[in-house]
Amino acid sequence: MTEQFSNLSEDEALEVANRCFYEKFGEKLSDIETIIFRESWQKKTYNTIAESHAYSQNYLQKDVGNKFWDKLSEALGEKVTKRNFKAAIERNCKGYQQTNTFGGTPKEYSEETWQKEKTYGQFVGRNPEIEELLKYLESEQKNKVLGIIGILGIGGLGKTALCHQLVSQAYHAKLFSKIAWVRAKVYQYYPEQNQTNSSSRDSRLTLKDAIKDIGSELKLPHFVLQDIEKCKIEISKILNNTQTLIVIDGLEDTESPKELANELRSLLGQSTLILTSRKGTESDIFEYRLGKLNRDVSREFIQVISKEKYPVSQNPILQATEAEMEKILKITDGMPLAMKLLASQLKNLDLDRIVERFENVPEGQALYDYLFEDSWQELCNLNAVWTQHLLINLAARNQPVPVRLLYDLTDQLSKNEVDHALRLLVRLSLVDVSSGLSKQVSLHSFTARYFRYTLREKYEQLTQ
Ligand SMILES: Nc1ncnc2c1ncn2[C@@H]1O[C@H](COP(=O)(O)OP(=O)(O)OP(=O)(O)O)[C@@H](O)[C@H]1O
Ligand SMILES: [Mg+2]
Repeated sequence: MTEQFSNLSEDEALEVANRCFYEKFGEKLSDIETIIFRESWQKKTYNTIAESHAYSQNYLQKDVGNKFWDKLSEALGEKVTKRNFKAAIERNCKGYQQTNTFGGTPKEYSEETWQKEKTYGQFVGRNPEIEELLKYLESEQKNKVLGIIGILGIGGLGKTALCHQLVSQAYHAKLFSKIAWVRAKVYQYYPEQNQTNSSSRDSRLTLKDAIKDIGSELKLPHFVLQDIEKCKIEISKILNNTQTLIVIDGLEDTESPKELANELRSLLGQSTLILTSRKGTESDIFEYRLGKLNRDVSREFIQVISKEKYPVSQNPILQATEAEMEKILKITDGMPLAMKLLASQLKNLDLDRIVERFENVPEGQALYDYLFEDSWQELCNLNAVWTQHLLINLAARNQPVPVRLLYDLTDQLSKNEVDHALRLLVRLSLVDVSSGLSKQVSLHSFTARYFRYTLREKYEQLTQ
């Protein structure tokens, strides 16, 4: 019945779907939606698709598929299902060709950089955080006040993912007319392989390159990009005349974070800058400190990740007992990166072995180095012995400590030195200080473990 409409190739059909999605939602089909689209184009059943792509049928059909056909219906402007979508795609393609043959140049559609930076399948939780940040963005827009937002926190907490989700929502709410996303992050960790691209830590993004990247995101011509001063002038013009959102993701991987933040502040005009960073910038910005996922969201997160990874019959998370689930939540401590790593390790290792690996720093070296090596190096470079001393004490306790008790914790330190050390540790996201009357200092359990281990010798010397 639908054969009369099957003039398009699968690739062409996908192109049509991507264009419609892009025009409606500002983004193309996700990886999993693309799989469903392609395989359905070939008339494969959910059962077959699930088997050949190692997904559970239930997840593909109920969690992803049903939503996908609704989205596609919205994008095509007519109700479609897995059975009849080919005809609708064909009709849409014809309509599009006609409008564009007779109506001038074809409408451009290309995926923007920020859309390609999506690293998650389903985004989980973080509603209060997004709401608060969106409110802030809206108020900035309303008041036309210059704005720099820093999303800060230790590695793997989900700063980049949160930022992507925030940008996506702000884009659809039409808060900005342009989005320029620059990935400063050069040092990456791949949970699937449990390793980093360690050689790239030295190739930090220079200030000049960051400006060029922004210029290129704003589509400045090549000859302007070659001349950094001209480039700044043109960027400044655009930022003054439009409501643009600039994102610098992974500011700590730029050569001079503070200078970059200040340079961009001077160009911003009525536009907005969001930075994600493991460290505070020491510059006057709205600092948003991201916390770990709470237990309920963590539970949901680990289930979503596992469903994306394993078919139901082989899903170790769905088969976990309550006691095992408790272990998983405790050891991963609300950190999405650790949860992703754990979920992928469950393929080959049993849970107790993974817990052991997480608990033992040398065994989990790649992950710990990725998360903390840089901050550790910074403490050493600054020769911040007092700060290390304080960190040793805090890491050894592994439970929140009221700030006022810190002054008595180490008799070698004056109150001023403690305050100074604490500020540095907060800037490096190595500790969190709760607000409220009785301020408490706490460390993420991964931070505590790493620094207990790394500083063990010093600790022994200092406490002798
Ligand atoms: N709320 C979430 N929903 C779904 N996936 C998430 C969420 N938060 C984080 N993730 C995933 O967890 C992993 C780690 O998160 P992310 O890379 O955003 O951390 P980060 O804080 O930016 O770390 P880094 O400091 O190393 O840049 C990523 O694969 C990301 O897609
Ligand atoms: Mg990041």
